[in-house]
Amino acid sequence: MARRAELEGHGGVVYVDGERRAPERAVVSVYDRGFLYGDSVFEVIRTYAGVPFGLAEHVARLHRSAAKLAIELPWSQQELVDELAREVREAGFSESYLRVVLTRGAGPLGLDPDLAVGPTRVTLVHPLTLPPREIYRDGVALWLASAPRATDGTAAEGAKASSYLANLLALREAKGHGAYEPLFVETSAAGARLALEGGSSNVFAVFGERLVTPPERRILSGVTRRHVLAAAPEAGLAVEVADLPIDRLLAADEVFITSTIREVVAVVRVLDGARTVTIGRGAPGPVTRRVHRAFRAHVGAGGAPMPWE
Ligand SMILES: Cc1ncc(COP(=O)(O)O)c(C=O)c1O
Repeated sequence: MARRAELEGHGGVVYVDGERRAPERAVVSVYDRGFLYGDSVFEVIRTYAGVPFGLAEHVARLHRSAAKLAIELPWSQQELVDELAREVREAGFSESYLRVVLTRGAGPLGLDPDLAVGPTRVTLVHPLTLPPREIYRDGVALWLASAPRATDGTAAEGAKASSYLANLLALREAKGHGAYEPLFVETSAAGARLALEGGSSNVFAVFGERLVTPPERRILSGVTRRHVLAAAPEAGLAVEVADLPIDRLLAADEVFITSTIREVVAVVRVLDGARTVTIGRGAPGPVTRRVHRAFRAHVGAGGAPMPWE
């Protein structure tokens, strides 16, 4: 468990409703519905060469997420883009990690969303810490998880809602089994097990020179996923957005996950209950490497050394 002292003074800058605050003085009301009910949405964004990547896309998703939760935002997408860009500039880190949280706001106690007085807006800007090199060098293991998520089957499905309890418990379970990330699985009406997404990532399977990734129906529309889908054809790879049965995933030549901070990470093993299945040769494969390089080129960061190098 992290100690309190480690939380404070770890170099971040916080904005609450647009006002800059030292992290230890950044507070929101205990009556805020984000705190009381997880009644909020969020985004994680990173910079490349100091510039927030896909900022407009992230803000568009934030707006879509808020709309799915029926949180009315008084700020246009452009206002949020401008404000976030300003906050990153002011924070002044060479590379930043940004977390933006919009809650329905504080209000008298009670579940009724109409009790909220208006949204709260928090941005955390931190120096970007990159994931450990080993995950790129060696690849990672996934743990198949079938727990329902907070938004599954609700109007908020596909929103980046802050209620990540199912995801974090699945991550804890995955780690308990020696895996790196849970992979959520749904059972179709016909009884097939279908791959959905990771605890905080999207998933792709590689068959020859073809990438297959599940459709957006029940997953978060990942910004990295979308850029991988756009970059892959430029790298000579075909893409297919289709249901991905677990049996097919386990027989793939390669599997990888994508997310904003981690970009592209090879999956070399999948833990399916007591069974461990090795993917391909059990090491990061050439197509995953190609996809990662293509993604980097796509985001304008093609010159930098790759994280496994
Ligand atoms: C559940 C889930 N799916 C997918 C992703 C990947 O999305 P992105 O590429 O936009 O970071 C995330 C990111 O946190 C996530 O939480």
